[in-house]
Amino acid sequence: MDAVAPIPQSTSQATLGELIAEARRLLEQAGIESAEQEALWIVEHVLRLPSHHVITDRDRLLSSSELAATRGLIARRVGREPLQYILGTQEFCGLEFEVSPAVLIPRPETELLVEYVTQRISAERQATIVDVCTGSGCIAVAIARLRPHARVMAIDLSGSSLHVARRNATRHGVGERITWLEGDLLGPLAEQGLEGLVDVIVSNPPYIAEAEWATLQPEVKLFEPRGALVAGAQGTELHERLLQEAVRYLAPGGVVILEIGAGQARGLRRIVEQLPGYKFHRLVYDEAGLERVVIVERVGA
Ligand SMILES: C[S@@+](CC[C@H](N)C(=O)[O-])C[C@H]1O[C@@H](n2cnc3c(N)ncnc32)[C@H](O)[C@@H]1O
Repeated sequence: MDAVAPIPQSTSQATLGELIAEARRLLEQAGIESAEQEALWIVEHVLRLPSHHVITDRDRLLSSSELAATRGLIARRVGREPLQYILGTQEFCGLEFEVSPAVLIPRPETELLVEYVTQRISAERQATIVDVCTGSGCIAVAIARLRPHARVMAIDLSGSSLHVARRNATRHGVGERITWLEGDLLGPLAEQGLEGLVDVIVSNPPYIAEAEWATLQPEVKLFEPRGALVAGAQGTELHERLLQEAVRYLAPGGVVILEIGAGQARGLRRIVEQLPGYKFHRLVYDEAGLERVVIVERVGA
């Protein structure tokens, strides 16, 4: 773990302004880039303050329980726990998702997957869409909301992430619209009678190569579930296995929409070219200009 400065003895009395200054200083010392902003978010969260109050109420003397609660969360962030786990939420596609250490924190670039699913499936269509490796359920929930006539199924190997995903679906009013299945990739579909009937299989599977794990920032390496991130020696092992399994379930013209890591597109293209029943359709870059999504089409079924 990266070394962080020890937390100095805190005073037992402080105003809101003093607490914010103390929090910012501790976060800066811990190497947190946006220390000022994060200090404000944590204080607002603990004290349940609307954001302008952190400015207007700076002289308010805080109670000892308010100080202890805020300092507790600051200490977690100083230990490099991701802010999203501390606050318990992350926004994705304009919706607020519960997150806990049981699930990967949804990333903004993953919204591209939702965008390409909705490009492919019109709002009126009664399509069948499967989100594999659903984690927090962010992709499945966003799609269920954007495509109200679609049948949505979501699969994950981790039972504890499915609990979080179900709560997220209920929170966004689509709890009854999504079928949750626990198991390895498309294994759980075997019982569903969906051979040749699925229009879209979308997935953000683990895609970090084992050797890369050690190089990740502490927030990811120490706190996010390893099983949500690391795939194998190459990083594309799960993509390959998913494509092998998917051919049986896809309808003619159906697609697999996959998130990938930078530098994985070429290898994945080769894998697709060697698999019967597929055509490489498209590679999409994210806002940072990195390879991010591949779309593979089912042909000749
Ligand atoms: C990168 S996370 C994606 C989570 C979420 N879809 C997102 O985009 O934020 C990968 C997820 O895949 C799950 N997973 C890992 N191996 C799996 C497997 N063999 N079969 C099904 N799910 C798997 C993990 O539990 C984790 O929830």
